[in-house]
Amino acid sequence: MKKIIIAIDGYSSTGKSTVAKQLADYLDYIYVDSGAMYRAVTLFALQNNYLSKDNFDKESLIKVLPEIQLDFKKENADSKANMFLNGVNVEKEIRTMYVSDFVSPIATLSEVRKKLVAIQHQMGIKKGIVMDGRDIGTVVFPKAELKIFMTADAEVRAMRRFNELKEKDETITYDEILKNVQKRDLMDTTREDSPLIIANDAIEIDNSETNEEDQFHIILQLAKDRVAGRI
Ligand code: DC
Repeated sequence: MKKIIIAIDGYSSTGKSTVAKQLADYLDYIYVDSGAMYRAVTLFALQNNYLSKDNFDKESLIKVLPEIQLDFKKENADSKANMFLNGVNVEKEIRTMYVSDFVSPIATLSEVRKKLVAIQHQMGIKKGIVMDGRDIGTVVFPKAELKIFMTADAEVRAMRRFNELKEKDETITYDEILKNVQKRDLMDTTREDSPLIIANDAIEIDNSETNEEDQFHIILQLAKDRVAGRI
């Protein structure tokens, strides 16, 4: 069967990765979480003191970018792919609020974007890929056969993220997450390089009131129709 590229963009915490994983599993495609790559570079910058609350040494970080090796690897055949930063599994660390709070400034750097987009291009060469992010349908794969743009109310998104994170971190508050979601929305949509915008040929899905299963079936149908040339 013909394989396509499915690009899923949208605001943070809209459930992009959930639906992207469901699609990849169902279609036997590769799933790539491009946000994990920006998060891993952010972790690198924090660990090596290029970035902190009071300081962002962009020039030094840009110089050492070639030293950053990113890989998606599975611990075993059945597990999901984890993000490895220079050979170390950082999947857990990159999901913390600490990293979420610093990732937007990293994602504004053109040098970082250039490096990550080049890796992403390579991953899509054989098609059969579902990639989620902010610029997948606009910059990474402008010719993707199916482009989805996901939105939902900021309050709904913050509540979803809160429910996800509160089990791992009891100190986390809903307000803190809402602020983070709103801050990232603003930075993602207003940055100069590759801002979050809807591609002309993307299909917009607002899932404020749609459950995961319905949403999966809607997008899966779109993918099947695209593969069969019906749309
Ligand atoms: O999808 P996520 O929330 O894990 O992404 C983390 C951050 O990385 C997000 O705030 C913006 C940035 N990002 C980006 O700029 N471009 C992408 N393709 C993916 C993520």
